[in-house]
Amino acid sequence: MDRFIIHGGKKLHGTVHISGSKNAALPILVATLLTDEPCVLHRVPNLRDVRTTLKILEYLGKKVEYKDNTATITADGTLKNTLPYELVKQMRASFWVAGPLLARFKTAEIPLPGGCAIGVRPVDIHLKGFEKLGAECETKAGNVILRARELTPAKIVLRFPSVGATQNLLMCACLIPGETVLENVAKEPEVDDVIAFLNKMGADIRQGEKGQLIVHGKTALHGAEHTVVADRIETGSYVLAACATRGDVTVSGCVPEHNSILWEDLQEAGFTLDIQKDAIHVLPYEGAIKPVRVRTAPYPGFATDLQAPWMTLMTLCDGTAEVDEDIFENRFMHAPELVRMGADIVTEKSVARVTGVKELSAAHVQASDLRGGMALVIAGLCAPGETEVERVYHIDRGYENLEQKLTALGADIRRYNPDKNEF
Ligand code: EPZ
Repeated sequence: MDRFIIHGGKKLHGTVHISGSKNAALPILVATLLTDEPCVLHRVPNLRDVRTTLKILEYLGKKVEYKDNTATITADGTLKNTLPYELVKQMRASFWVAGPLLARFKTAEIPLPGGCAIGVRPVDIHLKGFEKLGAECETKAGNVILRARELTPAKIVLRFPSVGATQNLLMCACLIPGETVLENVAKEPEVDDVIAFLNKMGADIRQGEKGQLIVHGKTALHGAEHTVVADRIETGSYVLAACATRGDVTVSGCVPEHNSILWEDLQEAGFTLDIQKDAIHVLPYEGAIKPVRVRTAPYPGFATDLQAPWMTLMTLCDGTAEVDEDIFENRFMHAPELVRMGADIVTEKSVARVTGVKELSAAHVQASDLRGGMALVIAGLCAPGETEVERVYHIDRGYENLEQKLTALGADIRRYNPDKNEF
């Protein structure tokens, strides 16, 4: 299994261009199941989770071509409406095929996505929504079997603004004639991008004045072409890496307003950011990093996916900073690994107390999840000496060309395969 070998202690400098959003690309690729007509998607990042999703589409009966970040999805005969556990266990987001398959075939059998390192991650909100739309949900032998004699429009209030449930239910409701209203929905920019794509396919999804989503379902949707929105989590990760290494970095091709709360917190910590239309410039800063408390929350709150990279920055603050992880129940696995690198972190339930140290020290660490892995890479970039990050397959899920982008910013990072003893 590949590892990253990082020789840290260098300031990042230069420009990095952001890729398309993983968390928009995955549901948008799944949404192509709603039509048999061709769909062309641009700026689809070349990531492990994208390749898994393309495999799922092929398994279900789609023809998939993917080259230079453009995916062309066309029908290739009749669609299947079941998925094997082998595919679902690799990626939780595969459960989102349930909405389109239920809408098109009135029945679907999908393995329950197991939990993952960051939490149990149930799908009760998805299933309650499907029941409101007229489906019967049965769980048997680890699978969810969805059946509906007829799907009917409904008013659904999500008990929590789940990103996945919002997207799954939207995709289903698009093919249910009549008016479905979803309340207490997720407002993440990735959800907006899925809505934009669905409406290009002929769906009719509008936002009501109270923030609810109003769907006027159709009998069929057509093919569409779409460019995936920039990845706001990749954007925040590179800005945090620039800050932590005291660098001078421009992050281009992004949507700065998607990370407003992060910019505020970084400015409160002492950094100067030049916010442009589609770029953000981190100016060099040698002063003290002030401790700033963050609490993760649904958008537009502090993104849970940036909690780990943020924690790495706070390990170098001048004082003690609290990090509250209020979205997932087990998203501090990077903390003990950062402590191995000399950080001073005490975690208790959903709160991590980070007391800044002068410098991190290089060490051999291992990633347990995608964003925690990025936090360790950033720590390795800061720590003088050689840091080895194991299990980079976690990181490959969500950061396109990571070592190439960091090398272009002046980092010394190489991918090493110990089994073949080659870089
Ligand atoms: C999406 O996951 C993202 N993944 C996650 O990014 C992100 O952390 C998360 O949204 C929150 O922003 C993709 O978009 C592919 P949720 P999702 O449903 O949809 C609980 C990354 O690093 N919940 O909003 O699965 C759940 O357990 C990944 O890119 C229920 O209880 O997140 C969690 O505590 C990690 N029942 C909270 O809600 C449900 O039916 C938020 O989950 C659904 C969710």
